[in-house]
Amino acid sequence: MKPAKTVFFCQDCGYQSAKWLGKCPACGTWNRFVEEEEPAAIPGRDAGLSFDTPPLPINEIVAEEGDRFETGIEEVDRVLGGGIVGGSVILVGGEPGIGKSTLLLQVLQNLAVRGSKVLYISGEESAKQIRLRGQRVSALSGNLLVLTEISIEKILQHVRDIQPKILVVDSIQTTYTSSLSSAPGSVGQVREGAQQFVLLAKKTGLPVFIIGHVTKDGAIAGPKILEHMVDTVLYFEGDSGHPYRIIRAIKNRYGPTNEVGVFEMGDSGLKEVLNPSSFFLNERPDGTVGSVVVPSIEGTRPILIEIQSLVGTNLFGTPRRTTIGVDHNRVSLLTSVMDKVWGKNICGHDIFLNVTGGIKVDEPAVDLGVVSAILSSFLDRPIGPQTVVLGEVGLTGEIRRVSQIEERVREAARMGFTRCLLPQTRKGNPSASHQIKLIPIGNLRQLMEHLF
Ligand code: TYD
Ligand code: MG
Repeated sequence: MKPAKTVFFCQDCGYQSAKWLGKCPACGTWNRFVEEEEPAAIPGRDAGLSFDTPPLPINEIVAEEGDRFETGIEEVDRVLGGGIVGGSVILVGGEPGIGKSTLLLQVLQNLAVRGSKVLYISGEESAKQIRLRGQRVSALSGNLLVLTEISIEKILQHVRDIQPKILVVDSIQTTYTSSLSSAPGSVGQVREGAQQFVLLAKKTGLPVFIIGHVTKDGAIAGPKILEHMVDTVLYFEGDSGHPYRIIRAIKNRYGPTNEVGVFEMGDSGLKEVLNPSSFFLNERPDGTVGSVVVPSIEGTRPILIEIQSLVGTNLFGTPRRTTIGVDHNRVSLLTSVMDKVWGKNICGHDIFLNVTGGIKVDEPAVDLGVVSAILSSFLDRPIGPQTVVLGEVGLTGEIRRVSQIEERVREAARMGFTRCLLPQTRKGNPSASHQIKLIPIGNLRQLMEHLF
């Protein structure tokens, strides 16, 4: 038999090349090319990979809106845009140990107790281990079937026999198809596996959750292509040092993107956090220097977060900048603007910045919060404990309008804050009916008189 044609794949992004390369031209990583069989060159491989449907006029296609169902876990439903859509493929990524398996087991349990047969396939843990986790999170319904298997052909066979309402594959990196000779977890195998599950979902209407590992820099391991193939991509965020976990939809064909669900990992699995603002603020000490609260929009809802800053004298040449939860470059930019506006040498100091709770924010609306926290620490003056700030800071020090001001202010008022510094705009500001005093400021120059 003629040996199958082989090509080289970048194991990070899936870039394909006829020759081995040291550096990937697509993603720039080094030494990640591995020789694998070219999938298209395998005889007979196409046999099962087809939708087998004729073309139809678009107005004659029957589309049912009703095939969305809720998981019963509100935060999961919210991230998915109101529940699971039949036939959708949902990729769940996150670091090891963050809680992917736990969450999906809980989702399955919720559906199982309502009478649906659900199937959890694991290639990572033994059935015993899954049972032990099931005991911990009280997911022991008789309708929750557990299968330990890595062969895709066998998995598909079981799915056909069992006809579950929902399928979880934990994880795509462990699945293996015998039509390719490369090892499980290689680009070819991951892509092939995902393709099979996408096809299964689209043909039968079965929703499939696929768990994916992430690489060191946080991307889902294997080709980026995986994210293109699926309907929804959810990322698990949070770190092991904090109990909170956030799932974020970074792609969603059936709902808003960037929506988040907040959970707390406890002794009996993940618990929903229904009031995230109080969750992220509950350890905030009153009247401390360098701390400020900002109403940030996560997904479609406002969450109050605390930004802390420490400005210290720089003793060793180049000043240090350490930021956790906000973009490092943004902080450098803002400190330069501050220096320009106030003529103080803040840039020459060491600056440490932290968003508490381990949450990450990357919207310009937190600019004014970053500036306020740094200023407070630099001047050694505490910001009023009942004050929130929001606004984007421009390069000339002007405070610019941000989105959803109304919602942010309402959330701050709901959490008992009484003063809000916000951008001054010509269009007028939110109605003053809230229990909160609105202080519009147009430029950083006016910040000092209102902040303290
Ligand atoms: P797991 O779901 O196995 O993570 P992943 O599938 O993303 O790798 O979660 C494992 C971690 O969660 C482990 O460190 C223990 C912790 N955990 C709890 O704290 N409480 C619990 O009830 C469970 C089931 C796990
Ligand atoms: Mg796991």
